[in-house]
Amino acid sequence: MGEATRIAHTGLRGRIMPAERAAGLIASDDTVGMSGFTGSGYPKAVPLALAARVDAEHAAGRPFRIKVWTGASTGPELDGALARVDGIEFRLPYNSDPVAREKINRGQMSYFDMHLSQVAPMAWQGFLGDLDVAVVEVTGIRDDGSLIPSSSIGNNKTWLDRAKKVIIEVNRWQNPALEGMHDIYYGTALPPARVPIPLVRPDDRIGSRYLKVDPEKVVAIVETDAPDRNLPFAAPDATAQAIAGHILEFLANEVGRGRLPASLLPLQSGVGNVANAVLSGLVDSPFSDLTAYTEVIQDGMLDLLDAGKLRLASATAFSLSPEAAARINSDMASYRDRMILRPQEISNHPEVIRRLGCIAMNGLIEADIYGAVNSTHVMGSRIQNGIGGSGDFARNAYISIFMTPSTAKGGAISAIVPQASHVDHIAQDVQVLVTEHGLADLRGLSPRERARLIIANCAHPDFRPMLADYFDRAMKGSHGLQSPTLPAEALSWHQRFMETGTMRI
Ligand code: COA
Repeated sequence: MGEATRIAHTGLRGRIMPAERAAGLIASDDTVGMSGFTGSGYPKAVPLALAARVDAEHAAGRPFRIKVWTGASTGPELDGALARVDGIEFRLPYNSDPVAREKINRGQMSYFDMHLSQVAPMAWQGFLGDLDVAVVEVTGIRDDGSLIPSSSIGNNKTWLDRAKKVIIEVNRWQNPALEGMHDIYYGTALPPARVPIPLVRPDDRIGSRYLKVDPEKVVAIVETDAPDRNLPFAAPDATAQAIAGHILEFLANEVGRGRLPASLLPLQSGVGNVANAVLSGLVDSPFSDLTAYTEVIQDGMLDLLDAGKLRLASATAFSLSPEAAARINSDMASYRDRMILRPQEISNHPEVIRRLGCIAMNGLIEADIYGAVNSTHVMGSRIQNGIGGSGDFARNAYISIFMTPSTAKGGAISAIVPQASHVDHIAQDVQVLVTEHGLADLRGLSPRERARLIIANCAHPDFRPMLADYFDRAMKGSHGLQSPTLPAEALSWHQRFMETGTMRI
């Protein structure tokens, strides 16, 4: 598709306008469904123009705030810009923007972090309320009015379906060769009309290449030419490499014992530097013909594709460093056949994840000695990002792996604690726990066996004696011996950190 034809539908061409005018079509208190997923495919002009408008309204003494629904995190031009001017009253389902995070933690912005697979179905059910406006970035508009998606799909299908008004950003920066990479499944329904999703291999294409929208609802089209903004990944340090090494050894052992095929099972890899390092580690592994059924395609997956180790990656978005984005953009046509981007209710669908038997690998903030995992809240109260897709994958995976450095904040905090200060993943959803010190295979173990293994294999050596001491005393002084706990002491490590700046005694 040439540059002159990015908006091929003649009727819609008449609705092209500047971002400022399009932002004027959004009213205070509106609920706005925006595209975007981890810094990919989010609208880049209308939210900025809206933030300027909010600022002006506030300066004039008029309140102006909106409710924002997205796919997941977005870029600074959206969450950052709107949060900075206090323009967001309510936000779902996932945020990693530092300005928005601060507003949420100060109680100035309401936030509902939720399983990413459930956002669209909950919107269909209607109890999240009406969706007033959709603002969706696309790569182009075809002559029949269908939309060529951009670098993420997220909840775009649902926003376009449900919003009363639609604003489209057509971004010339997005590679036209993205056309054909997407697979938009239109067969979902609510019970009792729900039917099985006909996806039995990660490679299966079950939907359309294009998003549908009723042209009558499109009130504005804004042309942009701005890059996605994802952050670079840190080069894997010794800790990340050690974690990756333990996971690779574990997987090789599972293959050796005949519990996994040599090509493994579809990989899911979470967000963050450690997850990316594990993928990079797979490049030099003996495994080949790998597939990924995951949420985001990050740099490590690109390395695996380039190395010929990964046959196919299915996700809902790219989450690439600027360097990797340039790499993929220079050769999009070749990657297009090896990548599929789907709506997030499909990329993260429990039914599909369970059927495919994904190997889930996610980060965590802290885990307790029984294996319950906190992915979201620092010291139990302060949100970091959100549960994202970790729950969709952890509960339904064939093997659910959680990984973390054994300490945080320069060693002041132990990632293994007597009791998690907040629980996102119950022990039953955490089958393998890994730090740089080792791996605990928790499958089939009782809580007491889990505790001994996690303390011995995963805790930092400095914190091991304290954890062992707690566990030994709990064995003697607690109310029961299934999961021995000393309630008055269980969260004392967190209290000590808040009072003294360290969990160490
Ligand atoms: N106590 C206090 N802070 C902690 C901590 C702990 N136990 N563990 C981590 N942190 C802080 C780090 O210090 C860092 O803070 P900083 O940015 O101020 O330095 C931040 O949390 C991120 O930690 P990091 O070690 O860089 O890990 P990461 O990039 O691998 O992210 C999570 C870890 C848990 C935050 C991240 O994986 C996440 O948000 N998970 C939930 C969503 C998810 O799993 N999505 C994937 C599903 S597809």
